[in-house]
Amino acid sequence: MDSILVTGNGPLNGQIPIAGAKNACLTLMPATLLSEEPLTLTNAPRLSDIKTMTLLLQSLGAEVSSLQDGQVLAMSSHDLISHTADYEIVRKMRASNLVLGPMLARLGQAVVSLPGGCAIGARPMDLHIEALEALGAEIELKDGYLHAQAPSGLKGAVHEMRFASVGATENMVMAATLAKGTTVLKNAAREPEIVDLVECLRKMGAQIEGEGTSTIEIQGVDRLHGATHQVVTDRIELGTYMLAPAICGGEVELLGGRLSLVGAFVEKLNAAGIDVEETDKGLKVARKNGRVTAVDVTTEPFPGFPTDLQAQMMALMCTAEGTSVLEERIFENRFMHAPELMRMGAQIDVHGGTATVTGVEGLKGAPVMATDLRASVSLILAGLAAEGETVVSRVYHLDRGYEHVVRKLEGVGAKIERIKSDG
Ligand code: EPU
Repeated sequence: MDSILVTGNGPLNGQIPIAGAKNACLTLMPATLLSEEPLTLTNAPRLSDIKTMTLLLQSLGAEVSSLQDGQVLAMSSHDLISHTADYEIVRKMRASNLVLGPMLARLGQAVVSLPGGCAIGARPMDLHIEALEALGAEIELKDGYLHAQAPSGLKGAVHEMRFASVGATENMVMAATLAKGTTVLKNAAREPEIVDLVECLRKMGAQIEGEGTSTIEIQGVDRLHGATHQVVTDRIELGTYMLAPAICGGEVELLGGRLSLVGAFVEKLNAAGIDVEETDKGLKVARKNGRVTAVDVTTEPFPGFPTDLQAQMMALMCTAEGTSVLEERIFENRFMHAPELMRMGAQIDVHGGTATVTGVEGLKGAPVMATDLRASVSLILAGLAAEGETVVSRVYHLDRGYEHVVRKLEGVGAKIERIKSDG
């Protein structure tokens, strides 16, 4: 398995282009299942998760062509041959469950493996099931698979989610586009990826209002047509690379970045002493001399501080002046990076969903590994600021969510290389 060698070498300067959002693309791709006509996505990120979704859609009979070096995905679901999302694919990537709503709406039936737990938490599917049942689906669990059917079609309904789940919102919105009548989803998730999905569905002919607020109203239509849609900027890749100059010093411009995508995160960066400025091309981040100030962070659904930036923020807090308290409220087990950061000299105390970080003057390089995507990149950020060499193993986690991570960081002066391994 490949690893990444990072050598701490001072301030970073230059520009980093930000890709299209992984989590938007992973919900836009299953939207192809809703129509017989082609759906084309531009600004797609080049990631292994996108390849996994491609394989899943192809296994259902969709045609998916990757064009322009992977940045354009041309899809067509004219002839679907299967309605089963197999365990072998779903277990690799939870976002596979996003085919459930579209298949049910288009075919009246869907069989989707339950994904099982993952490194950051149990992540059940109950909210997805409740949402689709509200639309009239009958769903039962057999042999580890959810068997869903709607023999006489889905029907619009008023449904309030117990928690604003991103995936359950996406599944319900997609399913409701082809349901009979009006659906009102209350306590819907408000993430930018959902707004992006709705914008794409609208181009396909769907009638939806209220995206980006907690009430989404969908007027079902008989069919959706083809469309071309540009995937929104990845706010998590954006926030991750904003932390590179914050941790190492210097000034970096993140091309394609927008403040509206990372508002709560920027508030915390400002409080820590980091300057963020919106430019014509994106966001410019600069750290003045001296240590950053410790700030407390609580993760929340959008527009709150994103759980997907908690690990990276912890890397920054490791060398801050003072003590910070990081509270994780979305996933029950998302501090796997803490013991690894401690191997680099960080002082962190984890109790349940709270991590208390006492800033130290400097970190020291060490061999480290992580069990999930965001944890892995937090170790790279820490390595950039540490004295000496850090080797981050299990790089396949990074490949799921960060395209060209070595090239992008090298471009701003980081000393970083991928070490290939035959094993
Ligand atoms: N939950 C339930 N029941 C459900 C669904 C969710 O209890 O039926 C719980 C989860 O276990 C979790 C919480 O609700 O504790 C939030 O889950 P949500 O459904 O909102 O998240 P998701 O759709 O599974 C997406 C992103 C995650 C991101 C979360 C939160 C995709 C493909 N994934 O997951 O991204 O952390 O929203 O913002 O969109 C990542 O990119 O590293 C990543 C994990």
